[in-house]
Amino acid sequence: MTQASRDWWRDAVIYQVYIRSFADGNGDGEGDIAGLRERLPYLRDLGIDALWINPWYPSPLNDGGYDVADFRDIDPRFGDLAQAKSLLDEAHGFGLKVLLDIVPNHSSWDHRWFKEALAAGPGSPERARYIFRDGRGDDGELPPNNWRSVFGGPAWERVTEPDGTPGQWYFHIFDVSQPDFDWENPEVRAEFLDILRFWFDLGVDGFRIDVAHGMVKNMDGPDLPYDESGLLDRPSIADHPFFDRDGVHEIYRGWREIADAYDPPKLYVAEAWVEPAERLARYLRDDELHSAFNFDYLKSAWTTAELRRSIDDSVTVLGSVGAPATWVLENHDVERVVTRYGRGVTAAGAGHAGRVSGPVDVELGTQRARAAALLMLALPGGAYVYQGQELGLAEVLDLPEESLQDPVWERSGRTERGRDGCRVPLPWATSGSSYGFGAGGAWLPQPAGWGDRSVEAETGDPGSVLSLYRSALRLRRDIPADESLTWLPSAADVLAFRRGEAFACVVNLGTAPADLPEHREVILSSGPLGPDGRLPGDTAVWLAV
Ligand code: GLC
Repeated sequence: MTQASRDWWRDAVIYQVYIRSFADGNGDGEGDIAGLRERLPYLRDLGIDALWINPWYPSPLNDGGYDVADFRDIDPRFGDLAQAKSLLDEAHGFGLKVLLDIVPNHSSWDHRWFKEALAAGPGSPERARYIFRDGRGDDGELPPNNWRSVFGGPAWERVTEPDGTPGQWYFHIFDVSQPDFDWENPEVRAEFLDILRFWFDLGVDGFRIDVAHGMVKNMDGPDLPYDESGLLDRPSIADHPFFDRDGVHEIYRGWREIADAYDPPKLYVAEAWVEPAERLARYLRDDELHSAFNFDYLKSAWTTAELRRSIDDSVTVLGSVGAPATWVLENHDVERVVTRYGRGVTAAGAGHAGRVSGPVDVELGTQRARAAALLMLALPGGAYVYQGQELGLAEVLDLPEESLQDPVWERSGRTERGRDGCRVPLPWATSGSSYGFGAGGAWLPQPAGWGDRSVEAETGDPGSVLSLYRSALRLRRDIPADESLTWLPSAADVLAFRRGEAFACVVNLGTAPADLPEHREVILSSGPLGPDGRLPGDTAVWLAV
């Protein structure tokens, strides 16, 4: 195995499969492994390098599967281990790597360990796998402190003891059905090392690590000064008691040893909502994780100032620890980019759901999202594409309230609709019930007109977002692989950079047409150039220079 093929991930495009909404093979209205296997040729032809599959473990799906009841199995509604193995073999046969999602901060309350913890009572070794504390007040009726769940409401829930009396409280950063593990407990640490090996031995190529900045906590920390509510908001304090604590790095050093024991080595990608870039870089030191989502880039407004700062920070700071930059615009937690870029305020809001309100110009958003795709795919390092992003799907903003499933909806007292609007099942066909998603409808209602954005409608249409992604992913392979870029002189509203000697990308984020630098050929453009050869606003080009 050459170094280049060991380092496949450094400039890879990784496609995110939200399995419940990707393709339904068994007609029960929810996506599954069978549906994904049928659609693998689509992913191969799209030109991506790897898949990351959102959690498919047994789960009550209170938080879309991020509430795991058994870390070593597959939920029957998604398939079984034999199908998972076939999927891995078939994906590998197509030259695609497969990453899974591991959720180490918490389990579901349906996990065997949590049930044992409830049954065993205070002070037991079973309770010591989670974070149970006595309450405050005369009868322990008050939570141990004021910490809040990032989904809204208190981060503590009181249990009823086996003898029927009101009892201790357990800690949950997320939903009440997602109790946090106690990572001080060696049994928890050992368990996860074993889980990693279980999936690596099955042939999985790596993991995306959920809430990678969680796990280690200072449960003796003080009450927190909350002044805003929002998903994954961190009160801006140094030494946060449950996010980004230094102790987490020791865990990753242990995980890395396991990954490196395989040939080729396995890969870890961090989902870590930490700032500034220097803090993120600490997760990517040589003996820790390989790569991380660039949420700073995702949250940036569609302006040259914000994007250029984010690009420079990412390349420089991550490069200082030898890690490649990565680029991401969408995932299953944030608003679709077509919608966000179609608003007056294009920066994502606070917290990791990042939703802002206001009118949306979908046409403008689509034009910008097309330009943003060429920008992202021209930058050095790796990139992530969330299913449906390649179709230019917009956020579904008008899901009926009774269909909303995200725990954010209830926990926010029905003030925040949550993340379902980016999780609506994919349209594969122009018509038919569920637009080709499956024979049994779709678990979230698809909007009228969804078929116009389907794979069927966009395939073969040279003007479609899908055609743009297919061309860009193919042509991207010819962009010099070195991990740097050189900015070219440009007008204030324009981003222009070179990769190597012969390739340039120019993006006009303003409204006035911009001059292109001298070039031999336009390789690809996100929209038509002006009759004078100038670059219109909200348009990007790749040039041979
Ligand atoms: C991550 C996931 C999100 C989930 C949360 C709790 O942020 O991306 O979907 O709700 O972790 O596991």
